[in-house]
Amino acid sequence: MAAAQLDSAELHRWLRARRSTRRFLAQPVPADVLARVLETAAYAPNAHNRQPWRFVILESEDSRRQLAEELGREFAAALEAEGLSAEQIAAQLARSAARLQEAPAAVLLCLDASVLDTYADPARTQGELQMAMQSVALAGGQLLLAAHAEGLGGVWVCAPLFAQQAARQALGLPQSWQAQGVLLLGYPAGEPAPRPRQPIDEIVRRV
Ligand SMILES: Cc1cc2nc3c(=O)[nH]c(=O)nc-3n(C[C@H](O)[C@H](O)[C@H](O)COP(=O)(O)O)c2cc1C
Repeated sequence: MAAAQLDSAELHRWLRARRSTRRFLAQPVPADVLARVLETAAYAPNAHNRQPWRFVILESEDSRRQLAEELGREFAAALEAEGLSAEQIAAQLARSAARLQEAPAAVLLCLDASVLDTYADPARTQGELQMAMQSVALAGGQLLLAAHAEGLGGVWVCAPLFAQQAARQALGLPQSWQAQGVLLLGYPAGEPAPRPRQPIDEIVRRV
């Protein structure tokens, strides 16, 4: 159902019905649908209206493969440090690479640090960077909701955050672009079970 036709109770239900979707039909996401989703994502609230988000559509098989390889290198090192066996590492890397390569659409969500103000006070500069991360995260959330409005499912995968230089290198991105995550999108293969939420009284405090 289109969000515009919903009354507020239905709209809340619709918002709560978004799920992280990890299994997709082998059906492409039309370019105009993806373009609409990204454009709506860019309406997210953001600090100073600086719009620090950047979206890298991973269109070619080559870009997906290169990103998967670079992320895999970093991931392997982390898993090795955790003490996993070579077999376990290989299995995890294969699973992660397949997820990235097989998703019908994939968008690397980046923060462009070049648009941020810098200050003599390092704490203030750090605060600006945090606000930019908050802004980019809001765009990521809005992107997932815009995808939901199109009948798409999606999931935010954090791996590129831990391999920012590798992601830049794999995709030839500017030095100031900091990968925050990759959003995998597609038409859902089944409805994922809802993940439980904490009771509202446990997370709200009235003072
Ligand atoms: C910043 C962030 C990072 C995430 N990283 C991953 C990830 O690396 N892999 C994954 O499968 N899901 C990831 N997720 C999805 C969460 O697991 C999911 O949102 C959470 O379990 C709640 O489920 P729901 O989105 O279906 O409500 C991430 C979500 C966010 C917002």
